[in-house]
Amino acid sequence: MSSATHNPILVAIDTTDAEAARATIGRVAPHVGGVKLGLEFFNCHGIEGVARAAGTLPLFLDLKLHDIPNTVAGGVRAVAALKPALLTIHAGGGLAMMKAAVEAARETSPLTKILAVTILTSLDDGDLEALGYRDPVEAQVRRLAALAQQAGVDGCVCSPKEVAALRRQCGVDFLLVVPGIRPAGVALGDQKRVMSPRNAVEAGASYLVIGRPITEASDPAAAAADILASLA
Ligand code: C5P
Repeated sequence: MSSATHNPILVAIDTTDAEAARATIGRVAPHVGGVKLGLEFFNCHGIEGVARAAGTLPLFLDLKLHDIPNTVAGGVRAVAALKPALLTIHAGGGLAMMKAAVEAARETSPLTKILAVTILTSLDDGDLEALGYRDPVEAQVRRLAALAQQAGVDGCVCSPKEVAALRRQCGVDFLLVVPGIRPAGVALGDQKRVMSPRNAVEAGASYLVIGRPITEASDPAAAAADILASLA
């Protein structure tokens, strides 16, 4: 994934249907930089199923680990055989938990980049208040991104709304992985705050997590190729 050949598109496969997943991944593989498989697929098919589905594509394993440091470190070691390019944890687990995850990855799968999820985009200021947080979402996202960086985490998952500010705050080497991407003319689905692929990259996204605009297109390969072309 050098910058000259960097394809930032990570196709999100949100299904438990292994056959459908493998078929879609096979079709889009030449046009994407990697595949995102998360809790839905992993909980159903486990390590072997994920390995079979991802094939040779770089894997973004979106498990959002959140537990005591020792358990999260064990969770990271337990998926090291998959050698995921990217693996998620929750920043809310705290500094020691994030450090433990990074250390476990460095020891068992050195090429794996650990990403922290800051505040889930399903939460708003009212939810944070109910949870007892002092700050609104934006300030809390920035605080947790700083803590993640302090822990040695390689990057964050963030919404299109946050990417420019986090790029400024965290510097050029911090990975920013951005869902909520919609090419012009594509249905929003349940996404409320969206950005086009090109605008997200220009705002500082390192990777774009794109699901339905590719997987539900009549021709997923062509949809992925068109998105890639829009970035050139
Ligand atoms: O289909 P769509 O492009 O909306 O899929 C986006 C992917 O990114 C899904 O896998 C979704 O779970 C994930 N995601 C998201 N918003 C977040 C975090 C993850 O849409 N804040």
